[in-house]
Amino acid sequence: MSSSFQAPKGVSEYVPPRADLFYAVREAFAEQARLAGYGYLELAVFEDTNLFKRGVGESTDVVSKEMYTFEDRGGRSLTLRPEFTASVLRSVLENSLHKGALPVKVWTTGPAFRAERPQQGRYRQFYQLDLEAIGSEDPRVDAETIAIAWNWYRSLGLTRVRLLLNSLGCRECRPAYRALLQDFLRGLDLDEGTRARVEINPLRVLDDKRPQVRAQLAGAPLMADHLCPECKAYHDRVRELLADLGIEWEDTPTLVRGLDYYTRTTYEFDHPLLGAQSGIGGGGRYDGLSEDIGGPPLPGIGFGLGLDRTLLALDAEAREAGGAPPPVAPRCEVFAVPLGDAAERRLFTLVDELRRAGIAADMTFGGKRLKGAMKDADRSGARYAVILGERDIADGVAQVKDLTAGEQTAVPLTAIITTLKERLAQ
Ligand code: HAM
Repeated sequence: MSSSFQAPKGVSEYVPPRADLFYAVREAFAEQARLAGYGYLELAVFEDTNLFKRGVGESTDVVSKEMYTFEDRGGRSLTLRPEFTASVLRSVLENSLHKGALPVKVWTTGPAFRAERPQQGRYRQFYQLDLEAIGSEDPRVDAETIAIAWNWYRSLGLTRVRLLLNSLGCRECRPAYRALLQDFLRGLDLDEGTRARVEINPLRVLDDKRPQVRAQLAGAPLMADHLCPECKAYHDRVRELLADLGIEWEDTPTLVRGLDYYTRTTYEFDHPLLGAQSGIGGGGRYDGLSEDIGGPPLPGIGFGLGLDRTLLALDAEAREAGGAPPPVAPRCEVFAVPLGDAAERRLFTLVDELRRAGIAADMTFGGKRLKGAMKDADRSGARYAVILGERDIADGVAQVKDLTAGEQTAVPLTAIITTLKERLAQ
């Protein structure tokens, strides 16, 4: 029987062995970020509610409908972060990182919270990998962020990820386009909620997935056709750079993102095997965000990659190929089975020595007999068991059993670590 409690609805939790994959996937990202010169940030999980209202935008669903907002004991309004970008920028400014070399290159990870209707791939507590380059308006920075995500997907063995790319223009060209789009949308046959959206956030209407709305959007004006010369040149340069890097993308003029701060380059990573929640990552430039939250002019670009959905994508590709998701480094390579008190004492030390030598090692606990201990060894997933009895101690040896092949050999206790190292390397 389990306890009387369950995790709150919509919380995505990971337990072993799935959590080992989760962790390995996150570590693979840490490596890509390091290789590209991005430093790690550990941030507040909750923030002043106004940071998100002003940063992400009050007209967005994320802020208007999905935030976990509460009052603390001092009467302050706080919100569990629904995303990372506003917090990253807040922290960069607060810690004056922008007064050093630019761009400030940083990444972070952890849970984010949105009160959405839970379903496969959509959770109320979910996990993101977030990377930001702050302080440079240079198309190479835009392309660099995309390349980092791309290399990470490749390092995981994902082959079906699609990159959707668009430009949302800037504060010069977007207002005129927005007005043009509003005029077009006001002429359509739309329900009340959508008509309200036309007035508040018309670009989001382009993202409507309902067939009756989609059908009417066919002739809608597109930002791509109304970019100012600077935005157009900038976007063309980003695309050239992606081509240089051998990264394939799909120009997607209807791509709009759910957060208000985006300018110019915007992109999404999409996985065709995931159905409704196919957006496995997204990002873009946010050149006005710093000023929106009371900072100096400071352009920036970055992305948030959904860890939960990436794991689902790994499952989906493995299913398609008829195999299992990629293996992760084993939690146990050698399992120790003592027979008697003296052996228990000797093996407890040996397990520690093995760990110090970089070998994942474990042993049976609770004074089990041979049969129970061997069952533990099998369950551990280890390649070798080291079995030690009174007689072995007297002879100065231990029995090393290959748990896959079933063979067992006596190895001198003095040579046990080097022998296991050699065998594991084979
Ligand atoms: P976002 O598109 O809202 O962007 O989220 C990024 C990714 O987080 C999504 O592509 C998706 O994979 C994952 N995600 C979002 N909501 C959920 C959910 N409820 N359950 C599971 N996964 C989810 C941002 O958050 C921006 N801050 C990204 C960014 C960084 N832009 C610039 N810098």
